[in-house]
Amino acid sequence: MDERPIGVFDSGVGGLTVVKELRRLLPTEDIIYFGDTARVPYGNKSIPVIRRFCLEITRFLEAMKVKMIVVACNTASSLALDYLRRNTELPVIGVIEPGVQAALRDPSTKRVGIIGTTATVRSEAYQTRLKRLRSGCIVSALACPLLVPIVEENLLNSPIIKLVLEMYLSNFRTMNLDTLILACTHYPLLKPAIAEFFGDGVRLVDSAEETSREVAEVLKARRISAPRTHVGSSEFYVSDSPDAFMAVGSPFLGYPIEKVFLEPVWQRDVESSG
Ligand code: DGL
Repeated sequence: MDERPIGVFDSGVGGLTVVKELRRLLPTEDIIYFGDTARVPYGNKSIPVIRRFCLEITRFLEAMKVKMIVVACNTASSLALDYLRRNTELPVIGVIEPGVQAALRDPSTKRVGIIGTTATVRSEAYQTRLKRLRSGCIVSALACPLLVPIVEENLLNSPIIKLVLEMYLSNFRTMNLDTLILACTHYPLLKPAIAEFFGDGVRLVDSAEETSREVAEVLKARRISAPRTHVGSSEFYVSDSPDAFMAVGSPFLGYPIEKVFLEPVWQRDVESSG
């Protein structure tokens, strides 16, 4: 039994989509969440910069004595997962493999669209994995960089969402996709609009549920689950603008985020082993 919290991080509010599932599946676990709101978006940044940010956050979570780290960000998972694993002793879980598994759970999945940040799409992390695991699978990927700021700005009901989806995805809509992977943890917050845009024939998949299942497995395998009688709680940290974070996060999680702590992670000394 291990009462230490699980550390979860993202560039901003997107990782809350994973927190929501973790809370549902693992109600006895404590969670420490970090959103790098001062530096969001990550999706248009270079690999060394993204890695540096992720390492700073990892050092912060280590200092908070977490028992494992969940990289609840596709951009960071595609570009920094192995790097983080080389630089911490803690178990580190990303969202790419769970997203791929969720997409392939349906044996009829054959024509897959992937939408994510520029960095995630360029990394080809999803494309490579999907093609390896399902031969003959047709995969198309597209970056939709404006969707993250829409979510961070709490414009979840704005008419501009439809315009932005039209601009990025009208070609995708004609491609006869059976599955669309929301390869950015911010995008499930826009699920109703995306579902309406694509209509009934396209299955929308995100990583949150499958990632939480993987976390549960790791906790069990390592025998580091919280005691069964423990009532899990969540603590939230951001690098800037706690108010904006609360405004988007509270309705999404379905309970008020009462306190958000400010944590300028870049003030930490980080050393990496490359
Ligand atoms: N939520 C993130 C992801 O899953 C990051 C988006 C961004 O910061 O650009 O990729």
